[in-house]
Amino acid sequence: MSSLLVDNIGELVTNVPAAGGDGPLGLRRGVALLVEAGRVVWIGPARYAPAADRRIDAEGGAVLPGFVDSHAHLVFAGDRAAEFAARMAGEPYTGGGIRTTVGATRAASDDDLRDTVHRLRDEAMRQGTTTMEIKSGYGLTVVDEARSLRIAAEVTAETTFLGAHVVPAEYAGRPDDYVGLVCGPMLTAAAPYARWVDVFCERGAFDADHARAILTVGQSAGLGLRLHANQLGPGPGVRLGVELGAASVDHCTHLSDADVNALADSATADGSTAGDGSTSGDRQAGTVATLLPGAEFSTRSPYPDARRLLDAGVTVALATDCNPGSSYTSSMPFCVALAVREMRMTPAEAVWAATAGGARALRRTDVGVLRPGVRADLMILDAPSHLHLAYRPGVPLVRQVLHNGVPQCR
Ligand code: NIG
Ligand code: FE
Repeated sequence: MSSLLVDNIGELVTNVPAAGGDGPLGLRRGVALLVEAGRVVWIGPARYAPAADRRIDAEGGAVLPGFVDSHAHLVFAGDRAAEFAARMAGEPYTGGGIRTTVGATRAASDDDLRDTVHRLRDEAMRQGTTTMEIKSGYGLTVVDEARSLRIAAEVTAETTFLGAHVVPAEYAGRPDDYVGLVCGPMLTAAAPYARWVDVFCERGAFDADHARAILTVGQSAGLGLRLHANQLGPGPGVRLGVELGAASVDHCTHLSDADVNALADSATADGSTAGDGSTSGDRQAGTVATLLPGAEFSTRSPYPDARRLLDAGVTVALATDCNPGSSYTSSMPFCVALAVREMRMTPAEAVWAATAGGARALRRTDVGVLRPGVRADLMILDAPSHLHLAYRPGVPLVRQVLHNGVPQCR
C-alpha cells in the first residue's frame, strides 16, 4: 500500500482541540501527516514521522482540512451577468431570474450541463474545496430534475433535490398543483439520485405549509432535510427547519430573536457548541445556520450577523451558494474573507465554519477535520497560517489540494 507523508508544515489546522491542539482550530505546529489508502493514518511530531513512499514538502505553508461547501447550485445553463449589472445599478434581487435559468437549463443537453458541473467543481477544488453539495432546482419538471441530480451525482454524494425552488411558469397561479407534482412523481424520479431535499421557503417562492408538506414527504422517502430560509425577509423558514430537524437552514439573513433562540436550543440539545469545535462532532442532530455571504455580496444586501448567532451558541457554517443568479462564485476563500470583514467572525471562526461547520451541515464526521481515520482531504497554503485566507483576500493562496489522498493537478 502506497503511503504519502506531508511534512515541513507551518501550521496544521485539525479542528480537533481535544487532540492536544491549540484553540478552536486545534492548531498544531512541528507535526507531519501520513496518508494511506485515501485516509489520514497518522499525525505526530515531524521528527518521529514514519518512512513513506512519497513525500510532499509543504514548504512551511499552513495545512487545513479541505473546505466543505455545503450549499451550491451547479446544474444550470447560461449566465445572468446582465441581471448582476442591473443590480449594481440599483435594481433589487427578487429571485425572479431563476425562471430565466430554468428555461436555459431545460434547453441544454446533458453534456452541456455536465461540462458546467465539472468546470465549477474543478474551479472550486483549485480553491481548496474537497466536498461540495450540489442542488437541482433549475429543471422543475420530472425529467429535468431527475437528470440534474443524476449529473450532480457523478461528482458528489451530497446531492439535493430542490424541485421546490420556484413555481415554474407553466404552473403560475397553481402552486398547490405544482407542490403535488413535487411531492409525487418528481420526488419519485429524483429520490434515487438525492441524499437531501430542500425548499426555497420565502415570499414569492414556497410558504411554510408547502415547505412542510414537501420536507415531510421527502423525509419519508429517506432524504435528509435542508431549507433556504429567511434570505429576502423575515419568515417562518428557520423555525420550521429546526422543528423538523433539518440538518441546516441556509441564508439566515433576516432573523428574529425567536429564530436565533430556536437555532441555539437545537445546538444545545445536540451537545454541539457554536463553532468552537469543542465537541467530537459524533452527535450531530442540531440544525446548523449556514451563511452564504456571496449572495449578499452579489445582491448588494445586508450581510447576516454571524456574531449574533455565534454568541447565542448556534453552530455556523459558511458556503458559497454558487449559482448564476445570486452568487456566481465557487470560492470558499472569498466567503471566508467576507465573513471576517463583514459578518463579525474572527478568522478562526470563519475557517472553522468553512470546514468543520460545513461538515456539520452535511452531518459528516469523515471530512472537515484532520485526525487519524478521516478522509485525506486537505489543502496546503502558500502562506504560513490560516489567518492569511482573510488577510490576503483575492490572492490564490491554495497551492496544493489532496482529495481522498490524491494530489490534484493545478
Ligand atoms: O440560494 N434563493 C434561492 N436560490 C438561490 C438563487 C438562485 C438564483 O437566483 O438563480 C439562492 O440564492
Ligand atoms: Fe441557494
